[in-house]
Amino acid sequence: KVAKAGILEELTAQIRVCTKCPLYQSRTLAVPGDGKFSARVMIIGEAPGREEDESGHPFVGAAGRFLDQVLEGTGIKRADFFITNTVKCRPPQNRTPRVGEVNTCTSNYLFNQIELINPQLIVLLGGVAAKKILGVKSINEARGKVIEQNGRQYLVGYHPAVRFYREDLGEKVKEDFALL
Ligand code: URA
Repeated sequence: KVAKAGILEELTAQIRVCTKCPLYQSRTLAVPGDGKFSARVMIIGEAPGREEDESGHPFVGAAGRFLDQVLEGTGIKRADFFITNTVKCRPPQNRTPRVGEVNTCTSNYLFNQIELINPQLIVLLGGVAAKKILGVKSINEARGKVIEQNGRQYLVGYHPAVRFYREDLGEKVKEDFALL
């Protein structure tokens, strides 16, 4: 277990200096993820935004503040999970990460993080994570139930940032976390 924690730290160090895809050229800081190695729940978003890129930490900007608001009163704290993204560097202008960027980043980092942390439950927030990891086409069809695949358990939910362009979906984000 101690050895695995060390490998996770080594992975974090590699992510910080990664140059395997073009996103390194425009990033300020890579965002490896935050949380305990022993977390039972892993949360996976899309990619860092501006504030994440500036701080090196996931979900610290507007989407993260909404996430904190959603967690308030649920009894779940950020310290209870390991939180990261599908892609560890901010895409320019927050565009959607490209397939090649997603494939490079997940095959080098995310899949190793999942194996090392070995969480009981993985929460996929938004279409980029849900599509890459489960092949899910529609969030709406996949949310609301535990999905088992390759011996792991997943929940799919709307990305918290959805609230900023579809205010009505903010309630759905709350439902997704109530289920968690
Ligand atoms: N959106 C994400 O998907 N991840 C972050 O870290 C911040 C915003």
